[in-house]
Amino acid sequence: MCGIVGIIAKAEVSGPILDGLKRLEYRGYDSSGIATIHAGRLERRRAVGKLQALEQTLRERPLHGAIGIGHTRWATHGAPNVTNAHPHATETIAVVHNGIIENFAELRESLIAKGVAFESETDTEVIPQLINHLLVSHNMSPVEAFQGALKKLQGAFAIAAIFDGEEDLILCARRGSPLALGRGEGERFLGSDAYALAPFTNRITYLKEGDWAIIRQDGWQIFDATDTEVERREQLSDAASALIDKGGYRHFMAKEIHEQPEVIGHTLSAYIDPVARKVTLPDRALDFKNLERLTISACGTAFYAGQIAKYWFEEWARLPVEIDIASELRYRVLPWPKQGAALFISQSGETADTLAALREAKAHGQQIGAVINVPESTIAREADACFPTNAGPEIGVASTKAFTCQLATLACLALAAGVARGHIDAKREGELVDALLEVPRLALEAITLEPQIEQIAHELAQASDVLYLGRGVSFPLAMEGALKLKEISYIHAEGYGAGELKHGPIALIDEKVPVIVLAPDDRLFEKTVSNMQEVMARGGCCLLMSSAAGIERAKRGGAPWQSLVIPDIDQALSPFVYAIPAQLLAYHTALVKGTDVDQPRNLAKSVTVE
Ligand code: M6R
Repeated sequence: MCGIVGIIAKAEVSGPILDGLKRLEYRGYDSSGIATIHAGRLERRRAVGKLQALEQTLRERPLHGAIGIGHTRWATHGAPNVTNAHPHATETIAVVHNGIIENFAELRESLIAKGVAFESETDTEVIPQLINHLLVSHNMSPVEAFQGALKKLQGAFAIAAIFDGEEDLILCARRGSPLALGRGEGERFLGSDAYALAPFTNRITYLKEGDWAIIRQDGWQIFDATDTEVERREQLSDAASALIDKGGYRHFMAKEIHEQPEVIGHTLSAYIDPVARKVTLPDRALDFKNLERLTISACGTAFYAGQIAKYWFEEWARLPVEIDIASELRYRVLPWPKQGAALFISQSGETADTLAALREAKAHGQQIGAVINVPESTIAREADACFPTNAGPEIGVASTKAFTCQLATLACLALAAGVARGHIDAKREGELVDALLEVPRLALEAITLEPQIEQIAHELAQASDVLYLGRGVSFPLAMEGALKLKEISYIHAEGYGAGELKHGPIALIDEKVPVIVLAPDDRLFEKTVSNMQEVMARGGCCLLMSSAAGIERAKRGGAPWQSLVIPDIDQALSPFVYAIPAQLLAYHTALVKGTDVDQPRNLAKSVTVE
C-alpha cells in the first residue's frame, strides 16, 4: 500500500527521500511523487509507474530544498496517473496520504460549494483543499488548520504535510495507518515504517493511534487524539541490518523461500523446550483450558495458515473453532461465546480488515491473541497476548516464509491448547515436539526439489488455468498453492477440497488444465488419489506431490504426468513441507512468464485499507 517519507535536513532532501521511497517499494505502488520547499516556495514532481520514472523526472527537472515529503501511491480512488499521484497540493500546502478518507465525497461537495476547484479523482485531495481553505478563508496558522482538518476527516489514514513559506515544519498524523518518526543529528525524518528510515537513522519513535506531530529540524512535539502533548518512547530499530539485500538471490521471494528452514527453526525455538520435549508459551497466553470456542480470522495467506490450524486445534485440543476471512468476520452478527478467545494472524500486523475483526471480537469480550511477524505493529499492540513469528522482514509481496512461520507458531499454540485441555498427554506432546523439531531439516530437503520443479514450471507456464486439490490439512494448502501461482504468474488457479471435484470443478478438466494433487501419505491418501484418477480418466494431466511410498502406490492406478517426492513427515505436519514445493512451483512459473515476482501487478504487501 502507499508509502510515506518526509525529511527536514541541513542539505538537499529529494535524493534521500527517493532512497527512502525505494525501501517502501515492497509494499506495492503504481505512481510516486515528491514535494519540497525551496527558497520558500513549494515545488513537486510526480510520475506514473516505478520509481525509475520519478528518478528520470528528477534528472530532467531537479527538485531542490532541505525539507520535503515523498509518496508511493497504490491507487484506490482514481486511476494511477500523474494527476492522481501524491503529493496533492494547493498554493499553500502539499500533502501525502496513506489510507482512505471515508467522508471525502461529502467534504469535497461542501468545498466545491465554497468555490474550491479539484483537479484529481482522489479522496486525498480533500485534505490539502480543506487545510488550504482553513488557512486562507479562516486565517488560521498551519498548525491550527491541520488540527482543524483532522477533526473533520473520517477513515483510516496517515498523512504528512508541508507548507509554502515554512522551511522548518512538517505536520503529520496517524489514524489507522502506521507512521514512524526518526531522529538524526540536526535532522528529522518520518516514514511509513522503520525500513524507509533505515538509511538515515535507527532511532525510531512510533506514533500511536490518534497521534499527530509537529516536526522541526531540531525536534518534535507529539500530541494524542485529545490534543494533549505526550511523550512516545524512542526505540533502536534493527531494520537496517534486516534489509535490504537479496543475499545473492535474484528476488526477495527466492531468498525468503530459501530462508525457511532457518526461520521456522527460529520460530519453533521460541515455543519449544527441546530438552523437556515440551511446548512453552509466553506468560501472557490465552486461557485455553476454559475456552468454549476459538475464533480465528485473517486475510489471504495468513487465513490459509489459520485454516490449517483449525484442524490442529480440533484434533489435538478438541476445541471448537470458528474461522472466517477478516473482511467477512468484521461484519458478521456472530453469537460470541461467553468464554471465548479470538486469534488473529497477520504478517504485517497492519491489515485493515484483520484489525477491524480484532476490534469486533474485543468488543464482544473475547480474549485476543495475535500471531504476528512485526512485533511493533498495531495488531500486536492491541492484542491481549502476542505470539511472534520470527520470520524476519518479508519483502516479497507473495508471502512464503511468514506462512510457514505462522504454521510453526500455530502448531505450538494448538499443542499447548491440547495439553491445557487434557487431550494431549506427555508422551504425545513429546512425539509432536520431536516431529516439529524435524521440520527445519525436512524443509531443507524439500528445497532440494528445486531443479525438478524448475523443469515442471516450463510446462506449467503454458497453462491458462490450474487446479490444486487436497484433503484435510492439504485442502487449505491447495488454496494457498493456487493463491501463490495466481499472484505472481497471473495464471488463473483455484484450490479445492479433492472431494468437491465431482460437485462442479471436474467439468473444467481437459488436457490443457494441469491439476496439482497434494496427497501426503495420510489416512485420506487413498481418497485423494482416487480423485486424481478421476481427473486422469478424463484426459487431465496431474502433478502428484506425495511421499516416495505414496507415489509408488498411486502409480498402480496409472502414472500421473509428473510426480514430486516430498519428504516423509508426521501426517498432521505435512503442510510445512508441501508448502515449499508449491511456493517454488509458483516462483519458477513466474520466472518463465517474466512477471514482476517481488512486486506483482496491482498487489500491495501491507493492505491498510478496507
Ligand atoms: O500482512 P498480512 O499477513 O495480514 O497480509 C494478509 C494478506 O494480505 C497476505 O497474506 C496476501 O494474501 C499475500 N499477498 C499472500 O501472498
